[in-house]
This record gives sequence, structure tokens and C-alpha cells, in this order.
Amino acid sequence: MPHSVKRHRRLRNITPEEKSEERMDISVLCIFISVVAGVSALENGLVRTPPMGWLAWERFRCNTDCKNDPDNCISDKLFRTMADLVVSEGYAAVGYEYINVDDCWLEKERDFNGQLQPDALRFPYGMRDLSNYVHSKGLKFGIYQDFGNYTCAGYPGILGYLQTDALTFASWEVDYVKLDGCYSHPRDMDRGYPEFGYYLNQTGRPMVYSCSWPVYQIYSGMQPNFSSIIEHCNLWRNFDDIQDSWASVESIIDYYGNNQDVIVPNAGPGHWNDPDMLIIGNFGLSYEQSKTQMALWAILAAPLLMSVDLRTIRPEYKAILQNRKIIAVDQDPLGIQGRRIYKKNGIEIWARPITPVYQSYFSYAIAFVNRRTDGTPSDIAVTILELGLAFRGGYFVEDLYEDVSYGVLTPDTKIKVKVNPSGVVMLRADVQISYKERQFPPPQSVYRPYDIFQVTRPIFKKK
Ligand SMILES: *[C@@H]1O[C@H](CO)[C@@H](O)[C@H](O)[C@H]1NC(C)=O
Ligand SMILES: *[C@@H]1O[C@H](CO)[C@@H](O)[C@H](O)[C@H]1NC(C)=O
Ligand SMILES: *[C@@H]1O[C@H](CO)[C@@H](O)[C@H](O)[C@H]1NC(C)=O
Repeated sequence: MPHSVKRHRRLRNITPEEKSEERMDISVLCIFISVVAGVSALENGLVRTPPMGWLAWERFRCNTDCKNDPDNCISDKLFRTMADLVVSEGYAAVGYEYINVDDCWLEKERDFNGQLQPDALRFPYGMRDLSNYVHSKGLKFGIYQDFGNYTCAGYPGILGYLQTDALTFASWEVDYVKLDGCYSHPRDMDRGYPEFGYYLNQTGRPMVYSCSWPVYQIYSGMQPNFSSIIEHCNLWRNFDDIQDSWASVESIIDYYGNNQDVIVPNAGPGHWNDPDMLIIGNFGLSYEQSKTQMALWAILAAPLLMSVDLRTIRPEYKAILQNRKIIAVDQDPLGIQGRRIYKKNGIEIWARPITPVYQSYFSYAIAFVNRRTDGTPSDIAVTILELGLAFRGGYFVEDLYEDVSYGVLTPDTKIKVKVNPSGVVMLRADVQISYKERQFPPPQSVYRPYDIFQVTRPIFKKK
């Protein structure tokens, strides 16, 4: 049966002549692994989809020099300004919600009662007042502490004050706590992170709990106990802090791809892997690279925490951050993290199962990534079936950046995409069913392993 695909420069049906490209080269590339079933997870009702918001660290660091750099120092004014812009520039309307303080907000000493106090010059109205302001904008307020004697930048850490600080944060109406792991013993974390989570819970105020527990343990050579981490944290860091460069983004992509069998099953509604902030709109990423970060973070079901100066961001980067279709992939209610299903010669394909689901057939978000640096777009040609999409009724396929849809494609349809160097083509393929047949299985439902990518020929051809 012929498929009526709207012709487009980036995706089209392959023509018969091009079939000569095919070479039999049998390789079974990857298998989807089932979501961990029956784990007990932190149930504080929060972040059923990955949190979205703005976080100071990557872009603004520990700049405390408000005298010489009043507009960029870590201060009350910076967070109020960003909260204003998250609303006025349309970020809140697409889902960005949390305004998160990171390190360097504290005085160097606790007060005489042992309570944390913000730097008096930079946060002259106190944290409760800042929190009220953020809430007045319809947003949520996040704060930072560290499971150690000091924060990473040398401010007072939480050891000895776990309950005190939980109560302080609750009294400031904090909605989100990031607990870093500098100046602590990674072995103490298996006890300490749950203990602070217990005190957060005991305050009665729902607060998202962001942990750095696994990454510090991995650095010290330990194997993190992910069943315990899932049980006590809403999100956690697995790998290095992101820096303002493509090399940094690539190292994170590789880490998540190379370790996906361990990492992916831990994600689900209320508990997420955190590959760190979005650096889109800063200095280090090109336009193509920025699109790649956004696409892959959505595949990874990652928290979308922008760390960028919203006063000066250029419109094309803002548009990437506000791409509703890609945000919808990130926020898919099934909460299943995607995987790298193909990697060869600098070409990668990543796929994430999403809604709608029909019988045992998932819909998918698919990212074709070109990691090559030979400066011309690369072609990737693949059938829908080779991507693991086997529903005979077909899939409604659209491009999430180009805003083009290709109609319904059946599994035997061969598609070809052109991917720019360090860029991405991101598609969404929805199982083609009538609305009343749609099923939304409960989150955490196990989906059975199956071969997703059985290619019997090269899918990428060097020019
Ligand atoms: C924190 O400080 C206490 C008291 O000085 C000390 O006993 C403990 O070893 C320190 N912990 C770390 C992780 O450095
Ligand atoms: C505290 O934990 C209980 C049990 O998991 C949960 O039902 C409750 O919602 C939690 N409360 C807060 C404020 O996190
Ligand atoms: C990991 O944590 C779980 C849940 O807290 C616990 O039951 C289990 O014994 C721990 N496993 C190891 C190897 O410590």
C-alpha cells in the first residue's frame, strides 16, 4: 500500500534507486529492558513528571560581588528578576515552575540559635520574603544545602543540623531542596540522605528532594543502592556537573548511554535521574547543539532546569526552551526514560516510549543524533519497524522541531532523515488508534523486553 508522506527535505520515503544502499550486515543492536517493577519509591505526591524551572548555578556560579557586579551576583534581586521573566517571557506558560537558589546564598556562620541565615547584604529581606515573592508570581521556590560540614563553596553544611534545617526550610515555605554532597563521607550518605528526607517529611510541608547521593558514591568507587535512592529522593545526580561546552554535554550523553542498563530502570513518576541543567542560551553551545541538548534531555525524562540569563537570551534559544512538543515528550505521563538504541560511526538513535499506548504498543519519541564533525549533514535511513515500532495500523509521525507532520506510516515504511553535524532530528510517532481506544496504563506498569532495533543493513552511509 502506498504511503502518502508529505515530501520534505528532512524526511521522506526512500526511492527504489536508493535501495541499492542496502548491504546485509546482520547485527542485533539493542534491547529495551523492563522498568523495575514493585520498587518502593518516595511518595510525597510531587514531581509525577520531571520538575521544570530555573536554577542559578551553571550560569551565575558563586558570584558574591554585588558591589562591582550588582546585576549578576547571587542575590535577592537576581532571583526576583528571573521569577519575573519566567512569567513575563512565557516560560511559566509552557511548564517552567521552580525558581531554585543554589550555593552561596548563606552567611558564613549560622545564627546564635544554630539556624541558617542568608547573606544579609545580598538577601536583605530574608528567604521567607523571597519565597513569598516567588509564590506571588504563581511559581515555586527551591533552595540548596549540602550533606556535609560545608557546602561546596564553603558555607555552613547540614551535618549536625538536619532537623533544624528541614524545619527552617518549611518555615520559609520552600518547595524544593537540593542537597549537595561536598565535605561529607560518601559512606555516610546511605544513612544521611534518608535521614534528612525523613525530617523533610516530618515538617508536613511537601518539598521536592533532590539528592547528589549517587554521584559522590560513584566518584568514591562505591556502587550506589538505587533501590534506597528511589525510595528517598525525587531526583538525583549520577554524573559530573554540566559546564558551558558541547564537550560537557557530550560527556553526559555518553555517560547516560553507556550506563543505561543501570540508570534507565530507576526513573519513573516521582523519581528521576538528573543529568543536570539545560545550558541552552549561554556561551558554549551552537544552535544545533542546543537543539540536541533539549531533545536528549526530553528522551532521558530529565528535569528541565534552565541555567541561563533570561534577560539576554536570544530568541532562537528561547524558542528551543519553549518548544511545547519536546516539553510534552519530557513530561510524558508514563515517565519511562528513553534509551540509546543505535550508535555507530558517530550516528546515534535514541528512543523513548510514550503515550498513547494501544494494547502492548507504545508510541515513541525518537532522536536521530549526528555526533560527526565532517561538516555536512548525514543521512540516516531506517524503517519504522527497525526502530521497534511494530503496530500494523501504523504511527502518526511528526517532526518536533520543524513542525511538519508526515501522516500515518506503517512499520514497513522506510524513512530517511538528514541530520546536521552535532545536531538532531526529533520525531514523535503516535500509535494510530481512534481516541476512544486509547489506553493510559498506570505508571510503573511493566513493559516487557523486546528487540527494538534489528538492523540487517547499514543505516548510515558515509558519503
Ligand atoms: C565534620 O565535622 C566533625 C566535627 O569536626 C568531624 O568529626 C567529622 O569527621 C566531619 N565530617 C566530615 C565528612 O568531614
Ligand atoms: C510523608 O510520607 C508519607 C508516607 O510516605 C506520605 O504519605 C506523605 O505524603 C509524606 N508527607 C510529606 C509532607 O512529604
Ligand atoms: C539497599 O536498600 C534497600 C532499601 O533500603 C535495602 O533493603 C537493601 O538491603 C539495600 N541493599 C544493600 C546491598 O545494602
